[in-house]
Parts: sequence; structure tokens; C-alpha cells
Amino acid sequence: MNKTIIITGASRGIGKEVVIQLSKNKSHKIYALSRDLDKMNQSFNQYSNVTCVSFDLNGNIEKQLEEIIQKEESIDVLINNAGLLINKEFNKLTSKDLLLSYQVNVFGVIKTIQQCYPKLNKSSHIVNISSIGGYQGSIKFAGLAAYSSAKAAICNITEILAEEYKESGIKINCLCLGAVQTEMLEEAFPDYVAPTKPSEIAEYICNFALTGNKFFNGKIIPVSISTP
Ligand SMILES: NC(=O)c1ccc[n+]([C@@H]2O[C@H](COP(=O)([O-])OP(=O)(O)OC[C@H]3O[C@@H](n4cnc5c(N)ncnc54)[C@H](OP(=O)(O)O)[C@@H]3O)[C@@H](O)[C@H]2O)c1
Repeated sequence: MNKTIIITGASRGIGKEVVIQLSKNKSHKIYALSRDLDKMNQSFNQYSNVTCVSFDLNGNIEKQLEEIIQKEESIDVLINNAGLLINKEFNKLTSKDLLLSYQVNVFGVIKTIQQCYPKLNKSSHIVNISSIGGYQGSIKFAGLAAYSSAKAAICNITEILAEEYKESGIKINCLCLGAVQTEMLEEAFPDYVAPTKPSEIAEYICNFALTGNKFFNGKIIPVSISTP
């Protein structure tokens, strides 16, 4: 079961834990992507099967992924984990806030999938990491319009792509996470204590990314103990 895996947002939080857990299986080849190359190199230098790549979802994605796409015959798993949370009252949101949120959480993810597509195979699995706030019918949080609406868009794109890609065999699913105790959560809600640790949710994501494509396609799955 040797897989070539790309994960974005690998420098901290959930993404970092996912890389650490996936790297334990030495047959996997893992590409860890984020803007902070030094931090990733420090975190993952003991893992021989992890390659760190500087990657900004707000930058030229085609160029940044070029080397991986040229080098790899196949990409088996793509985990679109990177995300940006803007916590700001709706009436105060600027065009810049909205554009940045949508660039990182939506447009960059779309471009990443498009770039990887030629190397995806009939057993490939794309996992989009969304939020429970982007899940239709869930409780919503004041201040998260720019973030949650972008996360909702990625849910919808997941459903559309499952249809567009159905002849190819590529599977795509979306996990809508509840609160996890990461720096993102701490920065946005300093007093809140999440019921889930990054290592716990990472274990779920790793297992889902490696096996979920056998059972799910085009599914928007709420993975939340904190929110109904
Ligand atoms: N924590 C939660 O409670 C929670 C709940 C629901 C959903 N989620 C989702 O889970 C995912 C991981 O969240 P987390 O809590 O681990 O967040 P985090 O601690 O803030 O980590 C976010 C990651 O995304 C990367 N990132 C941010 N902006 C980027 C950009 N422009 N280009 C490339 N990478 C960028 C960051 O790396 P660099 O800064 O090095 O680029 C970082 O590695 C996100 O999609 C988030 O929306 C989290």
C-alpha cells in the first residue's frame, strides 16, 4: 500500500499531525506543503519519506506544484487541509478580507486540484477539509461569514467534482470538522477549549484519506462532537 500523498497546510495544527502519522508508514511518499518551509523542515527532518515544499495558496499554484507534477507518475491522495480563518463582524468585512478568504479556502484549492488532476488515477482520493460552519443546517458562528461561506463553497465543489470525475474513478470527499485545539482556533477564540486534539482528528483524517475512497464519493461528512 505505498501511496504518494500531498497535504497542504502541513506546518502546524492538524496538517502537521497528519504528516507525522502518515510518515510512520515508510512505504508512503509524502509531500508536505505550506508557506513556512523552515518550520516544516525542522518538524519533519527525521522523516525520510517526507518532502517539504514551499506553497502559498495565494501565489502561483501552477508554478509551485510544477516540480511534483513533473516528477511523480501518480498522486494517490491529495489532502486539501490548509485554511485561513478570518473572524470579523459581517458589516466590517472588506473586499480584501473576502478575497483573501476565498483565495486561500476556495480558489487555491480549486487550482490545486486542477494541477494535480493529470496525475490522479482511478484509485486516487481527494480529501477536502472543510468546517462544520460550512455544513448546511449546522449551528453558525457570528464573525465567520468570510470563512464559513468559503468552506461551504468547498463542500459544494466536492459534490460537483464527484460527478465530473465519475468516469475517471477518482474519488473526492469533504470532511467538515468541528472544533480542534489548534493555533487557528486559539487565535480566533482564545477562551474556547476544543474537545478534540490535533493528533486525534489527524488519526481519523489519515485513515479516511487512505481508505474512505472505497466507501464514499462526493460526500460531505460532518466530523464534529462539539456542534450539532
Ligand atoms: N481547528 C479547528 O477547530 C478547525 C475546525 C474546522 C475546520 N478546520 C480546518 O482544518 C484545517 C486545518 O486547520 P488548523 O486548525 O490546523 O489550522 P492552522 O493551525 O491555522 O494551520 C493552517 C495551515 O494552513 C496553512 N496556510 C494558511 N494560509 C496558507 C496559504 N496562503 N497558503 C498555504 N498554506 C496556508 C498554514 O501554513 P503556513 O502559515 O506555513 O502557510 C498552516 O499550516 C483548515 O482547513 C481549517 O479551516 C479547523
